[in-house]
Amino acid sequence: MRKKVAVIGAGHVGECTAMYLAERNICDIVLVDIIEDMPKGKALDLAQAGPIRNYDAGIVGSNDFADIKGSHIVVVTSGVPRKPGMTREDLITKNAEIVGSVTENIKKHAPKAMVLMVANPLDIMTFHSWKKMGVDHKLVFGQAGVLDSVRFRTFVGWELGVSPNDIQAMVLGGHGDTMVPLPRYTTVAGIPITELIAPDRIEAISKRTRDGGGEIVKLLKTGSAYYAPAAATVEMVDAILTDRKRVMPCSAYLTGQYGIKDLYIGVPVVLGAGGVEKVIELKLNDQELGELRKSGTIYKEMLSVLGY
Ligand code: APR
Repeated sequence: MRKKVAVIGAGHVGECTAMYLAERNICDIVLVDIIEDMPKGKALDLAQAGPIRNYDAGIVGSNDFADIKGSHIVVVTSGVPRKPGMTREDLITKNAEIVGSVTENIKKHAPKAMVLMVANPLDIMTFHSWKKMGVDHKLVFGQAGVLDSVRFRTFVGWELGVSPNDIQAMVLGGHGDTMVPLPRYTTVAGIPITELIAPDRIEAISKRTRDGGGEIVKLLKTGSAYYAPAAATVEMVDAILTDRKRVMPCSAYLTGQYGIKDLYIGVPVVLGAGGVEKVIELKLNDQELGELRKSGTIYKEMLSVLGY
């Protein structure tokens, strides 16, 4: 029997997540939203694409959280996206309300599920959901670093005229203006980009990565990015369901690593059947460590808005 993955929120990110998941044929999918009937319609439509796209996963849409029962992973995409001029942090109160009530439903109907947070502000929502779930922090984590690093890979690939597939990138920190792209740990087929790209161009690419979500919000005008966020989410789900022990940056709970405690923030981890099986501590120089800790301090302050 295939494992079941629930996707909460059948908006842009949720529907794309369901679609990419279906195409991997690795799980059955339940898509849940509060808008009446909408997730049922999307699930039907998605199932009917299967014979052409070569998938046959069970795909169900629902307005009833009871249908997430038995889920192995619950992906939370329910939340308001930002509009032009907004930061992810402007969403904090509204999305904490949504994520809080969704987490109560996860606890009630699928208490053993891992929670993969996608709603923004990402690191804060992940912490909020973990507190409400009251489970081991290895089982609750957030998608952000995978997205930020594929943005970095894409821009580096364009800069050098090479395939982004051959680029490995590392981006740490909070999923926001304080994220920390790490050029020293970003390579093209093993060659550090610091040997291939001039410092001013690396700085420009790092800045574009940090502002990557905002650039898309400005162009879309009515919401935020969804193809790459959904693809990054599915990469994480796949690593867990197949126990591949993939090494990727994601929002994980720190217990003193990098000198940071009691906070979710983007760091490289090993993702496998046990969720976040290990946090990897990179050797950072003073500047990189300083930027990561600064990002942590800002997120700590933000958590206090929610009373933590
Ligand atoms: N339970 C289930 N679904 C909900 C709930 C809830 N309590 N509250 C809202 N939703 C649903 C909405 O009805 C909507 O269909 O969540 C969906 C959100 O979809 P979009 O508005 O299209 O937003 P999207 O672009 O998918 O972004 C979702 O992911 O990347 C982040 O910042 C983004 O926080 C935002 C989230």
